[in-house]
Amino acid sequence: MRIENESEKLKNLLKMYAYILNEINEGVHAVDEHGVSIVYNRKMMEIESMEDEDVLHKNLLEVFQFMREEDSTLLQALRERKTTKNVKQTYFNDKGKEITTVNHTFPIIENGEILGAIEIANDITKMEHMMRENILKKGDTRYTFDSIIGDSSAVQEVIESGRRASRTNSSVLIIGETGTGKELFAQSIHNDSVRVGGPFISQNCAALPETLIESLLFGTSRGAFTGAVERPGLFEAAKGGTLLLDEINSLEPSLQAKLLRAIQERKIKRIGSTQDISIDVRIIATINEDPVEAITGNRLRKDLYYRLSVVTLFIPPLRERKEDIPILVRHFIQKYNRLFQMNVKGVDEEVLQFFTRYEWPGNVRELEHVIEGAMNFISNEDVIAYSHLPFTIRRKSPLQPNTFAPSAAPVYMHIGDDGGDGDLKSRVEAFERHYIREVIQKHKGNISRAAKEMGVSRQSLQYRMRKYDISLQ
Ligand SMILES: Nc1ncnc2c1ncn2[C@@H]1O[C@H](COP(=O)(O)OP(=O)(O)OP(=O)(O)O)[C@@H](O)[C@H]1O
Ligand SMILES: [Mg+2]
Repeated sequence: MRIENESEKLKNLLKMYAYILNEINEGVHAVDEHGVSIVYNRKMMEIESMEDEDVLHKNLLEVFQFMREEDSTLLQALRERKTTKNVKQTYFNDKGKEITTVNHTFPIIENGEILGAIEIANDITKMEHMMRENILKKGDTRYTFDSIIGDSSAVQEVIESGRRASRTNSSVLIIGETGTGKELFAQSIHNDSVRVGGPFISQNCAALPETLIESLLFGTSRGAFTGAVERPGLFEAAKGGTLLLDEINSLEPSLQAKLLRAIQERKIKRIGSTQDISIDVRIIATINEDPVEAITGNRLRKDLYYRLSVVTLFIPPLRERKEDIPILVRHFIQKYNRLFQMNVKGVDEEVLQFFTRYEWPGNVRELEHVIEGAMNFISNEDVIAYSHLPFTIRRKSPLQPNTFAPSAAPVYMHIGDDGGDGDLKSRVEAFERHYIREVIQKHKGNISRAAKEMGVSRQSLQYRMRKYDISLQ
């Protein structure tokens, strides 16, 4: 009886530990003395884009592909009893979200015997973001259209529209996934406009709680609430310049309504005041999802959307303009050659193939991180090889890079009378053209439905239709 009671207690205690582990904001990964994972908490799943069922009760070497054992700090802790502290790592999870962690890894030793090893990952993404935003707020607006790299017609078109937009004062809505360069375009528009002498203020609407955002944007007047002081908001601070409202879809609808009013009337009231203040700012907003989906999901008010989208710039994800990869790679290698005083010449064929196949959920930002990571790793060689790539990206490719391509080629053959002879690129294009026509026909010209079936945004489908000269007859 007593024993049953004790084991019941123990069971409950273990359950409690499991709850605690899943609630904390640190990633925890523990392995036993054989390298078999015994703890893998929720935060770690988020950081590494893995499911616990894929990791738990399996050996590390089975789950993660390490080029060399030294790549795994956990294995090092186990085999060499080595503690690694303060290793900063940037991951991109499968949603493209950038996560920066500081990791500690250490062995668990009792009476001289090794019991296992633990890795604790501290998510410092928010801190990093805040630091970056502070830098921006100090007026660091370096980018111009000349710093936007990309040969693809898609990027060239967006640059062209951006340049046209900088001649006016109209609101601009920039649509694009994370890391596609929305901030770059916003800064370029500001720097190319007559407002260049004024401030460029960027505010991320997702970073702060609702009430703070509101007082930050509109300002407060004395007595608005306990402790409120007379303070101008960003609308006033950006006078004569540009106000970038980042991730507009994460603002509460009620605040979106206030924003709409401000843009329409060109006037605001500080919170707690009845006095109108005229504003003189250009508004640029960004959204990291398809606005139509945001409207349907009640994350974006339709009226605000119409108001903001006088000019819309859609920046396609990197995976839809892979022809930009080589020039971006060159650009980032040059950048880090300068910064690190190195003389790297390029990437080898294997890496280029891998880059072309990879989906880049974190887009250009992720590509830049990968190059920077590789250049930290490279020693005497002057070309980046697959083994130099950061482990976090290699881990995401279950296939070896050598197995790329040839097996995929036959799919693109015999696809009707669209042509399709020649190199892979033209075959892929021919396939795309054919596929788009087919799906549009199937949906009787309904672009939204066709886009949905293809798993691309409406904008991206429309861009492709223009590119391939496909019209709706
Ligand atoms: N076309 C490009 N040419 C050169 N650099 C680029 C390009 N696009 C993006 N980058 C680089 O990628 C990084 C991310 O760009 P940016 O901050 O503008 O992305 P974003 O779309 O605002 O992403 P998020 O939605 O996550 O805020 C920048 O540091 C910039 O250096
Ligand atoms: Mg941004």
